[in-house]
Amino acid sequence: MRTKNNSTLALSLLVLLGGSWTSVFAQLPPVPVPAENPITEEKRVLGKILFWDEQLSSDDTVACGTCHRPAVGGGDPRAGQHKGATDSIGDDVWGSPGIAAATRSGEAIDDPMFGREPQVTPRTAPSNFGSLWAEEQFWDGRATSEFVDPISGEVAIAKGGSLESQALGPLLNPVEMAWLDRTWDDLTGKLVDAKPLALATNLPPDTEQAIAALQSYPALFEAAFGDDAITPVRIAFAIATYQRTLVADQTAWDRYMAGDESALSETAARGWRKFQQHACNNCHEAPLFTNNDFLNIGLRRIEIDSGREGVTGIEEDGGEMKVPTLRNAALLERFMHSGEMSRLSDAILFYDTGDALPGRDEIPEIGIYEFSLPGNTRNDLAALIREGLVDPRVAEETYPFDRPTLQSEREE
Ligand code: HEC
Ligand code: HEC
Repeated sequence: MRTKNNSTLALSLLVLLGGSWTSVFAQLPPVPVPAENPITEEKRVLGKILFWDEQLSSDDTVACGTCHRPAVGGGDPRAGQHKGATDSIGDDVWGSPGIAAATRSGEAIDDPMFGREPQVTPRTAPSNFGSLWAEEQFWDGRATSEFVDPISGEVAIAKGGSLESQALGPLLNPVEMAWLDRTWDDLTGKLVDAKPLALATNLPPDTEQAIAALQSYPALFEAAFGDDAITPVRIAFAIATYQRTLVADQTAWDRYMAGDESALSETAARGWRKFQQHACNNCHEAPLFTNNDFLNIGLRRIEIDSGREGVTGIEEDGGEMKVPTLRNAALLERFMHSGEMSRLSDAILFYDTGDALPGRDEIPEIGIYEFSLPGNTRNDLAALIREGLVDPRVAEETYPFDRPTLQSEREE
């Protein structure tokens, strides 16, 4: 019952603050909510159920949450290997395993890279709650602020709908959740008869109560939207609503900035000063710890992954990736869009001058963002990110970051 009280408290706080879902002590600005999709408790719970339901994939093996788990900072603990876009050495990516390739009716296809095994995404899964404030989603920003109904082609959200735009991507993506040529009818028709979260165990109390009361997806959609129609726009609205309430604002750094000097250790406090001195804050700008801009820090050659240029067509944007938030980054298992670093200390070492990573000197872009970060400085920066920027509710998966156990995890 504790969690239910928490959720009631959170909702009354939300009402108190006039619709902005945020905590009183936090430094973070309120999460922008598009006028077309206001936050309601019914929509939030439906979104949570959809996010964690493996039945949203064609073969019941992949949920959004398979690749975005709070305990690892909203990233993915499973490192699948993608052999990269070119034959050259050094373009492998540690991405997320999705679905095994199959035709629309589920006949297995031999994929040239993955055979009949689950295919792996060509980029690493970033935190899904790192960018609630961003105008565009994905490393390259291809999910836009304008959200278009994929069935009617009409604009469903004029501005601020990038989370909605993003949410529809994986559902028809033939690497992540869909068999080839999946249609929206394939998905919505499946949900009409599916028992919500039937494959999951240890359901969080809010989802368990909603499912006990309403039983089916049509009834959950009716509670959230007024009638029982299941449409891609409504699926996106609910999932985006859920994500907008995942605000990781209870960190030691937030308390420190609110005046509690004991919240950060001496090392982490020094790390915060150095974070600003060494220009980390120019891009990983507090309090979001990202400026949501796209930049090329020279990790890889542009022809391996053109990044932002692939969306804008502008040559200058070559290799640019979205600046990831550093909130909860210490929990990630893999760092950077390529996932090639498995330790936070290595991600920080990358910014140091010298031969931090062998073979990098062949990359023309390298050197643009090199800083001199002697050992103590790197250590202090790591202390800030580890001790200062992790919200314990994310690490421990407690409300609102609580979640069910997936069927695929029980088989892992
Ligand atoms: C198979 C693994 C996988 C599944 C399933 C998956 N994602 Fe992702 N997600 C990724 C990867 C990989 C990226 C980065 C892709 C890119 O930038 O090209 C990503 C990016 C995102 C982002 C953008 C974050 C940012 O900072 O730009 C959000 C939000 C997100 N996913 C939410 C979702 C939702 C909602 C679902 C379910 C509808 C979902 N994901 C399903 C792997 C996955
Ligand atoms: C010019 C902008 C810029 C500056 C300055 C900068 N970063 Fe970054 N940072 C980025 C971008 C962009 C990425 C993602 C790069 C990619 O994947 O290609 C990134 C990635 C990271 C990551 C990996 C996070 C993740 O989710 O994978 C860490 C950790 C990090 N930076 C720490 C720092 C620290 C510490 C400093 C200061 C020494 C710093 N950054 C300075 C832009 C910047």
